[in-house]
Amino acid sequence: MSQGRNYDRISRFNHWITAIAMIGMLAFGLYLENGVAPGPEKGALIGTHKAIGVLILIFGLWRVMYRVVQGFLEDAAPMPVWQRFAAHVVHYWLLAAVVLIPASGLLGSYFGGRAVDVFGVMTIPGALEPSKTLADAMYGLHGLLAMGTILATLLHVAGALKHHLVDKDTTLLRMLGRV
Ligand code: HEM
Ligand code: HEM
Repeated sequence: MSQGRNYDRISRFNHWITAIAMIGMLAFGLYLENGVAPGPEKGALIGTHKAIGVLILIFGLWRVMYRVVQGFLEDAAPMPVWQRFAAHVVHYWLLAAVVLIPASGLLGSYFGGRAVDVFGVMTIPGALEPSKTLADAMYGLHGLLAMGTILATLLHVAGALKHHLVDKDTTLLRMLGRV
């Protein structure tokens, strides 16, 4: 099913909330991995990364379901087949990433036997019999999906800017609610 030519308010809200949250968390994850020395401070930051990630997972599940049920919009303007194909592959990747990145992180914690505390509101328990192999596999997947998503986001933003600045069509404006 296709939604027609314009994004409704909920779609725009969902898009920009997850866009900001995902870009922030990709940067946060890279900082944790490369910019913080091991120690209690790093442990606390990882706890915050996990708690925000679980909130994104819950919101993201709803956001993705909403898009799946509503369908994608028709393109704002005609474009070459390869561009259309590339844009759609990237959209599917980004949509999947909103769920699969936090889910793989959570499964990494689960198999590592670590409970995840979500800002004192809920606690997701870890496995009673941890498996280092499965935990490492999930964290490996977490990192790979994150790297792929950084690349996909760069392509996505470049595409949005090209539509706006070069093609001068309404692709970006309709996601901003300006048409
Ligand atoms: C929305 C989602 C999330 C994004 C975009 C994200 C992104 C990232 C990135 C980019 C890294 C660095 C990976 C690398 O350089 O190999 C990372 C590391 C990590 N993430 Fe996530 N993450 C998210 C959610 C979660 C969740 C829900 C959990 C667990 C419950 C989690 C647990 C971790 C852990 C434990 C690390 C390794 C930190 C370290 O040891 O340095 N993440 N994440
Ligand atoms: C500054 C960053 C971003 C800009 C300027 C931007 C811009 C846009 C625009 C203009 C569209 C509409 C495309 C069309 O109608 O054909 C769109 C759609 C989309 N964007 Fe972004 N985006 C950004 C970041 C992100 C991020 C980080 C994600 C996910 C992690 C994301 C996921 C999506 C998805 C899945 C769609 C398809 C429609 C939907 O389900 O919302 N975007 N984006």
